[in-house]
Amino acid sequence: SFFPILAVVAGYLVGSLSFAVIVSRVMGLDDPRTFGSKNPGATNVLRSGSKAAAILTLLLDAAKGWLPVVLVKWYGSAYGLGDGTMALVGLAAFLGHVFPVFFKFVGGKGVATALGVLLGLSGWLGLATALIWLGMAVLFRYSSLASITAAVMAPVVYVLGDGGLWFTSKSVTLAVSVMALFLLYRHAENINRLIKGTESKLGKKASPEP
Ligand code: G3P
Repeated sequence: SFFPILAVVAGYLVGSLSFAVIVSRVMGLDDPRTFGSKNPGATNVLRSGSKAAAILTLLLDAAKGWLPVVLVKWYGSAYGLGDGTMALVGLAAFLGHVFPVFFKFVGGKGVATALGVLLGLSGWLGLATALIWLGMAVLFRYSSLASITAAVMAPVVYVLGDGGLWFTSKSVTLAVSVMALFLLYRHAENINRLIKGTESKLGKKASPEP
């Protein structure tokens, strides 16, 4: 059947909606691709000074990862879609955010969307990962460092928790691990800045372009 392919393509298209760009445009703010880290994500939208726009970006970018996954989870069996498709659809939404077809394939880092995907795949996995992000953010005040730590920990948490205890889905493990690798690779510049000590702290506004 072509339902799995259809679901994956739909996931990718929804993921391609770059809400940092859309929300900023709608709210009359500068395009996040032009200031700060130039990244179209909630962290960089926060550097515009608008907390509301940043929170809205975070929620919508997470929702576009969560929704396709739970739609497959809740209604997929009627169309012959199982765990494998659910994991692939989540991965597709994530890759849509990172390489969006609507924005010349120049997307974000995928933190919020990955979190939404995790929440959809397994509520407690998403929650645990969000708590790791939050704990690191509160402790060190770097969004990127919190994201990198959460990305590394998510597959570990999944395999130790779900996998070890009662349920292992090979496809979910694979999707979570692939997202973690992409997240690390997308944070290469942040890692360099963290090492050099030039990474901007959470809540610090972007300095105007010279
Ligand atoms: O949202 C991605 C975050 O981990 C880092 O974003 O703008 O500081 O590169 P940014």
